[in-house]
Amino acid sequence: MLLKDKVAIVTGGAKGMGRGIALKFAEEGAHLVLCDLDLDGARAVAAEIETRGGQALAVRTDITCSADSERMVAYTLERFGTIDILINCAGGVAGTHGSGNSETITEEEWDRIVDLNLKGPFLVTRAVLPTFKAKRSGKIVFISSMGAVSPVVSVLHYHSAKAGIIGLSLNLAFELAPLGICVNTVVPGPIETPFWDALMPPGPERDAFFAAVSRHEVPLGRIGQPKDIAGACLFFASELSDYVTGQTLCVAGGQPMLSQQATFNIEAYLKERGILGEGA
Ligand SMILES: NC(=O)c1ccc[n+]([C@@H]2O[C@H](COP(=O)([O-])OP(=O)(O)OC[C@H]3O[C@@H](n4cnc5c(N)ncnc54)[C@H](O)[C@@H]3O)[C@@H](O)[C@H]2O)c1
Repeated sequence: MLLKDKVAIVTGGAKGMGRGIALKFAEEGAHLVLCDLDLDGARAVAAEIETRGGQALAVRTDITCSADSERMVAYTLERFGTIDILINCAGGVAGTHGSGNSETITEEEWDRIVDLNLKGPFLVTRAVLPTFKAKRSGKIVFISSMGAVSPVVSVLHYHSAKAGIIGLSLNLAFELAPLGICVNTVVPGPIETPFWDALMPPGPERDAFFAAVSRHEVPLGRIGQPKDIAGACLFFASELSDYVTGQTLCVAGGQPMLSQQATFNIEAYLKERGILGEGA
């Protein structure tokens, strides 16, 4: 087991990638703290872990609120006594219709999306750091997005925040290396999770979209699954990566390499079908 008795906090642990990461870490012997706005979802994942013999705590947390993050860390320390790993996974574009460019994004929308995807991960990390600094060890993983480095649709606020995550991670890696704390970033390509519900609900239309993206945009020819991201996070969270910090790893089926038939315009495809609007 790669994470035997390690204590791991996973933000956004109620569903999608966060859930996949939590289940993988539990299989590897970690004790999990699932913090999410969706307490019922986090409790369901905690119950799944406990049914399989693991230990897990669900805590309702809004990562954009520093008091929430500090309270979640206090509960973690009360229950498990320490923290070894932080996976900053919560984020997304819920409530935006998935689009936005320099003309359409309002200041309020900019603040909301950047708070969720950049400030939130910083606040949770800041709350965990006193524990990592005291023990002079710890693993922090951030989740960015391929859209931050190779956008195929304009989602300006979200992509800016996800690019900011790479800078945050690099600066923290530099600052914390002398204390033995490793900080790395995973950059996912398209992964099949409820994240996509903000764009289109599960169904034939979404299946057709995923099939077109797989065929034309992903060299490995398929949409990723939460377990693909969990594998990369496991590497960064375990002793396998003790000599690795400040790294940014794309887990994106070979993106942004373009396949031979890369003539598919995702933004045009979504706009033609009325899935992507002009407004933010
Ligand atoms: N799915 C993809 O294709 C994809 C691609 C690139 C990057 N990402 C990023 O990966 C991460 C995980 O995405 P996912 O696909 O699992 O999404 P998801 O929507 O399935 O899960 C996100 C989770 O975050 C939680 N959350 C949202 N706001 C929160 C807040 N303020 N405080 C606490 N929890 C909150 C949600 O309740 C949800 O459980 C996100 O940061 C997302 O931006 C996703």
